[in-house]
Amino acid sequence: SWNMPNYAEEAIGKIRSAVGNDKVILGLSGGVDSSVAAALIHRAIGKQLTCVFVDNGLLRLNEAKQVMDIFTRNLDVTVTQVDASHEFFKYLQGVSDPETKRRIIGREFVEVFQRESAKITDAKWLAQGTIYPDVIESAGSKTNKAHTIKSHHNVGGLPETLHLQLLEPLRELFKDEVRELGLALGLPREMVFRHPFPGPGLGVRILGEVKHEYAELLRQADAIFIEELHLSGWYEKTSQAFAVFLPVKSVGVMGDGRTYDYVVALRAVQTQDFMTANWAELPYSLLSKVSNRIINEVRGINRVVYDISGKPPATIEWE
Ligand code: XMP
Repeated sequence: SWNMPNYAEEAIGKIRSAVGNDKVILGLSGGVDSSVAAALIHRAIGKQLTCVFVDNGLLRLNEAKQVMDIFTRNLDVTVTQVDASHEFFKYLQGVSDPETKRRIIGREFVEVFQRESAKITDAKWLAQGTIYPDVIESAGSKTNKAHTIKSHHNVGGLPETLHLQLLEPLRELFKDEVRELGLALGLPREMVFRHPFPGPGLGVRILGEVKHEYAELLRQADAIFIEELHLSGWYEKTSQAFAVFLPVKSVGVMGDGRTYDYVVALRAVQTQDFMTANWAELPYSLLSKVSNRIINEVRGINRVVYDISGKPPATIEWE
């Protein structure tokens, strides 16, 4: 494995000599890869880098603020935040097919990103947080398209019509090395060790049609689950954990009244490679606490269920 501080120094030197005095644009998602790429490139070229952070309205609770705090306040990186949630919800209206939703979210991201990057005049480079497994995977998927079960839209896949040269400083690193590099660059542990989050975000965790109201409920429920996982020490023992919004109403009782509200499913898995996964055997006491908190604190949810399906045959996400 690399010696990360040395690796960082070397990578910084390479970025400087490649880029010279040019301007660089980077699509920042808040995920580990784009965040580490941003921190590294910023170290190398400072204000020549502009990050574009697209808020699609499908992010987790307070996520946009956290990303902006870390990058603009703590690291002094130039980040343009674009609130495009209105647009995303508009195009998702009436759409319930998972792959169609993915396509819309991916297309809309490219649209918004292109519009914003056009404002950064005479930029020459597009930076991406492509890591080694992505390089291998995309080489394989060209011959293997028919076997794609879910189309993955990440920040990658931006069109060549941008006419920018690609800058991919993490291309030779594995995920654990990217994390190590992130720490060496001073990114907070919570960001570097965060569970993966899909590009389409809550768009594929709200089953069927995506509505703003559903996203609000899901964000709250998900934040409670994640908070309790952290408090109990289970966050690090799971590979990915999240809440899923089921647009189904069931009957409940609350005080003297009858409720008729939505259902949230909790998903927590353990996996090495995300190709196969086991559902996590979370303690009943933890599940009970999360369930009580969600039902008491999130008005509009009156039932919580736990997903006990392995992958295969289920997938990790519900869509
Ligand atoms: P599945 O649901 O296929 O998920 O078992 C495996 C891993 O991939 C993530 N995932 C996605 N990531 N865009 C992404 O960037 C997507 O459309 C997408 N779909 C699934 C999922 O979160 C899990 O880590």
